[in-house]
Amino acid sequence: MSRLTGKVAIVTGAASGLGKADCEALVREGAQVMVTDVNAAGAAAVAAALNASRPGSAASMQHDVRDEAQWATVVATTVKTFGKLNVLVNNAGVVVVATPETTTLEQFRFANGVMSEGVFLGCKAAIPAMKESGGGSIINMSSIATHLGYPVFFAYSAAKGAVQAMTKSIAVYCQMNKMNIRCNSVHPGAIDTAMVDNANQQLGIDKSAYTEAPWGLGKPEDVANLIVFLASEESRFINGTTHVIDNAISIQ
Ligand SMILES: NC(=O)c1ccc[n+]([C@@H]2O[C@H](COP(=O)([O-])OP(=O)(O)OC[C@H]3O[C@@H](n4cnc5c(N)ncnc54)[C@H](O)[C@@H]3O)[C@@H](O)[C@H]2O)c1
Repeated sequence: MSRLTGKVAIVTGAASGLGKADCEALVREGAQVMVTDVNAAGAAAVAAALNASRPGSAASMQHDVRDEAQWATVVATTVKTFGKLNVLVNNAGVVVVATPETTTLEQFRFANGVMSEGVFLGCKAAIPAMKESGGGSIINMSSIATHLGYPVFFAYSAAKGAVQAMTKSIAVYCQMNKMNIRCNSVHPGAIDTAMVDNANQQLGIDKSAYTEAPWGLGKPEDVANLIVFLASEESRFINGTTHVIDNAISIQ
């Protein structure tokens, strides 16, 4: 209940799925959270539920992670509201179903705008505030698309590969400059969220293909438990690392 007491976090794409579960787990462990999403009503509903469980634990903002000016506002408002910034979960994401031959330039830029540029802008905006706060933990949501070749998720895979590489660059940069800021990436397999339902629908795949497979379908809280660990001081010597959470699908 108190692994994150005194910590302040921003979670992007937190109106649903993994981001929502991350917020719930962070608050359960004592953190205060700025819930952000391009879906303002969804983010507000998540924050309201968190405040009902622990008053003062959450606030929300509408936030498109592709917008650099909005990042400055989100970080400044978080520091103004909660006094500091210790944790950033760059979670916002979109799925694009198309192969290397069928992906349009527009689709490629859309996926990379949200998941590659969004992560870049988030890290860039958060580092100064974390330095002011005495350090922090940045957690970037990648995917096992970096470990497996997914022909139908071409632009998505490109973006998630960029996230993994940026994570390592940021980790070394912050370590060399003694900022006490860690940066790790998280690479889930299939987790039961709207994104997977959406992709399955486009591909004509039934959910039972996952639930009946040996690796199964993870739950958002399976990822949220890892997020809590990476946000906490328990992981203080873990930096620049790729954390796969996929019930062994990517090593078969
Ligand atoms: N579910 C999985 O199996 C799985 C596996 C690997 C990685 N991931 C990653 O986890 C993250 C969360 O995915 P999810 O499964 O919870 O999906 P989801 O669709 O439930 O949630 C994604 C959230 O991101 C928000 N979003 C989309 N574009 C945005 C933007 N431009 N700015 C801000 N917010 C935006 C959406 O409104 C939504 O609330 C994504 O980065 C995804 O790629 C998911």
